[in-house]
Amino acid sequence: MIPPVRSVRDQDRAPLVEALVRHMRSGYARFHVPGHKGSADAARELSELAGGRVLLADLTEVADLDDLQWPCGAIAEAEVLAAEAFGAEETLFLVNGVTAGIHASLLGCAAGGKVAVPRNVHRSVLGGLVLAGADPVYMTPEIDSATGIAGSVSPGELGKTLDGEPGISTVLLVHPTYHGIAGDLRRLVEVSHAHGAAVIVDEAHGSHFGFHDGFPPSAMSCGADISIAGCHKTFGALTQAAILNLQGSFVDREKVRACARAVQTTSPSYLLMASLDSARRLMATRGRSLLENALRLGAWLRQRVNETGVFRSPGPEWTGKPGFFELDPTKVTVLCRPPMDGRAIERQLRSDFGLVVELAHRGHMLAVVTYADEGDTVGKLAGALRAIAAAATPVRSRASGDVEGRGGVYGAFGRIPRKEMSLREAFLSVSRWVGLSEARGCVSADVVAAYPPGIPVLCPGELIDDEAVELIRECRSAGNHFHGLREDREDVLVRVVLRDGRDPK
Ligand SMILES: Cc1ncc(COP(=O)(O)O)c(C=O)c1O
Repeated sequence: MIPPVRSVRDQDRAPLVEALVRHMRSGYARFHVPGHKGSADAARELSELAGGRVLLADLTEVADLDDLQWPCGAIAEAEVLAAEAFGAEETLFLVNGVTAGIHASLLGCAAGGKVAVPRNVHRSVLGGLVLAGADPVYMTPEIDSATGIAGSVSPGELGKTLDGEPGISTVLLVHPTYHGIAGDLRRLVEVSHAHGAAVIVDEAHGSHFGFHDGFPPSAMSCGADISIAGCHKTFGALTQAAILNLQGSFVDREKVRACARAVQTTSPSYLLMASLDSARRLMATRGRSLLENALRLGAWLRQRVNETGVFRSPGPEWTGKPGFFELDPTKVTVLCRPPMDGRAIERQLRSDFGLVVELAHRGHMLAVVTYADEGDTVGKLAGALRAIAAAATPVRSRASGDVEGRGGVYGAFGRIPRKEMSLREAFLSVSRWVGLSEARGCVSADVVAAYPPGIPVLCPGELIDDEAVELIRECRSAGNHFHGLREDREDVLVRVVLRDGRDPK
């Protein structure tokens, strides 16, 4: 029998951090796992790497530390506080990233059903669809034709999808994208609910949204049924730590909780969970001023980038359109135009200036500013970009970021090849890597996606037709980076389904 959770309203408390510290101070001799027993001598290398206290804090579900699978003590209290801070009715701690939350949500809401998803969803969603045996109904996100960068799906595209395909029970949306681009989430939720579909929001990059109104609104405040916030990305928790927020009665919350237990480990790291409790306390008590500073630094950096005359960072002028409704100002996209190459600039920033950015493609880089930045960290990046720009020959004839005038090719990403078998069947099939030319007429066993825009040319179960092959070749010769292809001396290879274990065709 689980005792009722005491509702706590003190955001300046961190019950799990406190319980962990109390336990570490107790001096108990350990006759339980983990095997290193908290001893720096027993795990010397690790203690030199990360400090002996990491070992002391690496504990298991002993009596005073509660149990993530059936929380009723410190973890339950920490989750109640997190729910309050995120404006949710209920919050579950996750120790396997947003991925675990997406898997649990899809299993809990959409097993065997149809799910509307943007074509460019993160890999974790495909994994969740495979596990849930759910069928994706793809929506094409808006694409900025000058840069190839993808935004959100528009309410019009969502409505068209829901009208065109009866029986969609669940809509999965990304809010915001990796580049901080947010759609009109309130409207998207309204459209989904009007069609009787529940809304799961992948909020991997937006866990800080509810803590300052200078950001797009949080998924919970827009009425989403579930949001999965990647607290390890911008919120200050340790890598892998995330949370799943729930509200309302559109989804069967009991089932989602059970699915979260099914996909999560029974041996969660207390360091990860305590980092969620601690980051929530920080954001709930000091988030406004910390994020105010991050917003100021983001705006400052964007301005310095634009002053270089060589690089450009899109700001509010990028937004106010369907799919590009709002922007997280702390995600600073730096557009580079030929002959500049974002990947070369990224290498130069690393080797000459000791700076590492979040991502780099040919036409742009992404720098993430967070609450942890100071004027001097952001100043170093601005100075480095200024120095690189000064050494380059400015070309002012065209809007920067235009990928060699190739805007037109991005239209081709709205096309979805014919579906030959279900995503799950294709993904779990016996497969083989074959040359792209040989693959015509075969069924793709994996996702093949060009970056940018990160929208797949092929998804598992789809026919590799002439147009898909041509688009892959065209994007490759234009220098786009691909996921899902393997280089070979003769040809590029793609993974195809072996039907009945025989020849791919
Ligand atoms: C949009 C998006 N969703 C989901 C994930 C998965 O998150 P995690 O790595 O926390 O499992 C990522 C990871 O980068 C992501 O970018």
